Amino acid sequence: MDILANNNHSAVAEARKPAYQIEPIILQRWSPRAMSGEPISERELMTLFEAARWAPSSYNGQPWRFLYARRDSAAWPKFFGLLDEFNQRWAKAAGVLMVVVSRKSFEWDGNPARTHSFDTGAAWQNLALQGSKMGLVVHGMEGFDYEKAAQALNVPNEFAVEAMIAVGRPGPVEVLDAEQREMESPSDRRPITEIALEGGF
Ligand SMILES: Cc1cc2nc3c(=O)[nH]c(=O)nc-3n(C[C@H](O)[C@H](O)[C@H](O)COP(=O)(O)O)c2cc1C
Repeated sequence: MDILANNNHSAVAEARKPAYQIEPIILQRWSPRAMSGEPISERELMTLFEAARWAPSSYNGQPWRFLYARRDSAAWPKFFGLLDEFNQRWAKAAGVLMVVVSRKSFEWDGNPARTHSFDTGAAWQNLALQGSKMGLVVHGMEGFDYEKAAQALNVPNEFAVEAMIAVGRPGPVEVLDAEQREMESPSDRRPITEIALEGGF
């Protein structure tokens, strides 16, 4: 059984060739779908949130909130039911599902927090890097019902629903169906010349 997971550094090294040397953790984080269905411990889960907590944010507003359900808990079906069919096919083997929401206004003056999504994106990346380092699968998801999530989880109006995250223990690729097995490999990126534009567009 080939476990192609976050900590499979050889698969990552094969697929990802940086143009400049960067910290290995950045290249080694990727988004596998194959998970074992085993639970995530309380300590592991809190370690992920601890990593998220230290993200930078405008005025240190810390707009991120992580709503979550553990596998086999009473809340699990509610979270799982938000996912679209494609994501349900693989995320059923996650240990934890999260809905990430972000506060759109500052708590102290109610003014719009223009960078709230940007800040919450940084918190998610912290969580993903920490999880990758711990050998966990951490996989972001846009494929779910945003309106239903806001309703079902009593998200207050001043928060925006940003994304969902599946966290789990790596599993063998054989747990995936043929379509998703085909997709199970680390991806490449655009060259720097396409993303860094000196002097503007
Ligand atoms: C916010 C966000 C939403 C995503 N939505 C989905 C999704 O709904 N389903 C899925 O299978 N992958 C989803 N992905 C995974 C991306 O496709 C993946 O991160 C991207 O292809 C880059 O690959 P890597 O994470 O392995 O480096 C999402 C990732 C992010 C960050």
